[in-house]
Amino acid sequence: MRVGVPKEIKNNESRVGMTPAGVFELVKNNHTVYVQSGAGDGSGFLNADYQQAGAIVLDTIGQVYAMSDMIVKVKEPIKEEYNLIQKGQVVFTYFHFASSEMLTEAMIDRKGVCIAYETVEDEDGTLPLLTPMSEVAGRMAIQQGAKYLEKPEKGRGVLLGGVPGVAPGRVLVLGAGVVGIQAAKMAAGLGAHVTILDVNMKRLRYVNDVMPSHVVTEFSNEFNIRKHIKDHDLIIGGVLLRGAKAPNLITKDMLKDMRPGTVIVDVAVDQGGCVETTRPTTHENPIFIIDDVVHYCVANMPGAVPYTSTVALTNVTLPYVLKLANLGWEEACRQDFSLQKGLNIVEGKVIYREIIEAFNWQALTV
Ligand SMILES: NC(=O)c1ccc[n+]([C@@H]2O[C@H](COP(=O)([O-])OP(=O)(O)OC[C@H]3O[C@@H](n4cnc5c(N)ncnc54)[C@H](O)[C@@H]3O)[C@@H](O)[C@H]2O)c1
Repeated sequence: MRVGVPKEIKNNESRVGMTPAGVFELVKNNHTVYVQSGAGDGSGFLNADYQQAGAIVLDTIGQVYAMSDMIVKVKEPIKEEYNLIQKGQVVFTYFHFASSEMLTEAMIDRKGVCIAYETVEDEDGTLPLLTPMSEVAGRMAIQQGAKYLEKPEKGRGVLLGGVPGVAPGRVLVLGAGVVGIQAAKMAAGLGAHVTILDVNMKRLRYVNDVMPSHVVTEFSNEFNIRKHIKDHDLIIGGVLLRGAKAPNLITKDMLKDMRPGTVIVDVAVDQGGCVETTRPTTHENPIFIIDDVVHYCVANMPGAVPYTSTVALTNVTLPYVLKLANLGWEEACRQDFSLQKGLNIVEGKVIYREIIEAFNWQALTV
């Protein structure tokens, strides 16, 4: 198969869909890989690295799309890319169709085969191609939180680890999922006191088993949240209700109960956030302050660490890319339940129920 890796052209996106290690594996399996010149620059992979791994570097994005049977990228295609997609061409990337009718209509129109990273699903219901980005964001949340707790950044002026003779900072983590556990682990590693809340007792039991004793689990309810926000320095929002807006566990009135300079990192901002006052921010302008509480609500946190994010993402996408290339998309999806769940639009037909429901498109049901 001819596999194409274009440069991401969405604003502020420095990740790339394949590393030289991925190229090497595909070439070893007798496939041809076309990489757009400069595609890996933002993640620290140069044209020469790709060439050494066996890729053919092409000058333009148009050439990459025109020469390839399958496109492997990171973000959903933007307007400029719509017309590059050809009938029957496989596009394997994050799409998030339900949030854009325009994108969905464009992909129906182009008649490509759209396989979405975010809906590839394991038998146990977990989403293997979303997990690494949550891992990155969870770990980064503590790094960012620690920074904004510093006084010049408008925080309380607390060092998370404390020092001998001074108590460590206190971190409250809402949600003991992927984001929450990675955040708790980082905070605990710095020596902070950590309280982690969830409504799922299985998650809390797991955290209790694997974390050191300065990570304390509690059941998530309004009473406990109101109690803890008063004396925690850093609050991490890592709650997810699958397919729904995150619940507002911290309402605007609660901000007044927090000490001035408390920092909230609401990682769940991409699902609306679990704090009522959350609104999406960018890496250029990551924070805002309400009632003396610092809010960090960057919707694409992994974008700030493209090297780590690219390698983490491609580690998990590569086995699927190889399967698609070796077997062709139809046979690969027949053999692999997880990949089958990733099929969203096939040659003009929407086959992922949630998209049809999101836009009330009963007529397109197949
Ligand atoms: N901002 C970013 O850059 C970024 C990056 C990656 C992920 N995210 C987002 O972070 C969020 C968390 O992702 P995840 O992978 O950890 O999800 P996850 O499904 O692994 O974990 C979510 C956890 O929230 C818990 N939960 C549900 N209701 C709760 C409640 N009322 N109180 C406490 N806990 C509750 C669930 O039981 C679950 O354990 C998602 O919205 C995801 O999209 C954001």
